[in-house]
Amino acid sequence: MKIIVCENYEEMSKAGADIIAGLLKEKPDCVLGLATGSTPVGMYKDLIAMYEAGEISFDRVTSYNLDEYYPIEPTHEQSYRYFMNQNLFDHVNIDKAKTFVPNGLTKDPETEGPAYDAAIEAAGGVDLQVLGIGQNGHIGFNEPDDALIAGTHVTDLTDNTIEANSRFFASKADVPTRAFTMGIGSIMKAKKIILLANGENKHAAVAQMLHDRITTQCPATILKAHPDVVLICDKKALNG
Ligand code: GLP
Repeated sequence: MKIIVCENYEEMSKAGADIIAGLLKEKPDCVLGLATGSTPVGMYKDLIAMYEAGEISFDRVTSYNLDEYYPIEPTHEQSYRYFMNQNLFDHVNIDKAKTFVPNGLTKDPETEGPAYDAAIEAAGGVDLQVLGIGQNGHIGFNEPDDALIAGTHVTDLTDNTIEANSRFFASKADVPTRAFTMGIGSIMKAKKIILLANGENKHAAVAQMLHDRITTQCPATILKAHPDVVLICDKKALNG
């Protein structure tokens, strides 16, 4: 795993945006795997600024998001569809019909997951997957467990994750207890992965990812088996 150590959040965001911008220039019709959470917001802002400056274009891009609460309305302010519209899609020239987020309203979650993976395959696979990391080492919503699932699926969220994400909701009771997530296999199929992490509260998870053996109890450890992962982090996430 390559590591880019940054001084602060701004530098981390810029480093992530530069990698995505490089791909957009090299392969304008690329498939992006996108993530939500507070971590990538600055990176999306930088990409918007580059788009406004005429440096990059999203007009031929297809995107697949990593996860989505279930059930949730796409118009709900905390849905990941809403997040992506607000933080990126509404500000750049991406064709929204080519932006995909797991359907948080589906009546048929059993078929939604495999259909999502099949659509990614049909689009040629993800060229670049953006990831954050949960404080418990989750990626997407692949939570620490005795076993991990390969494909996109609905999962129960751990209390730790519900607690961490409750800051975005009126109360902890309002946080959905389930979510769609790309599975570990879906994530590992991406040709390249960048994982962004900042702040001391991510240090334990980052340290475990880097130094522990691969374990389902810290799903991010599996990224060590991927041939092209770049960890972009600040010093606090790396060193505590
Ligand atoms: C969330 C998301 C993840 C995200 C992680 C970290 O629950 N499901 O995709 O990477 O937790 O979030 P944040 O960037 O807000 O710390």
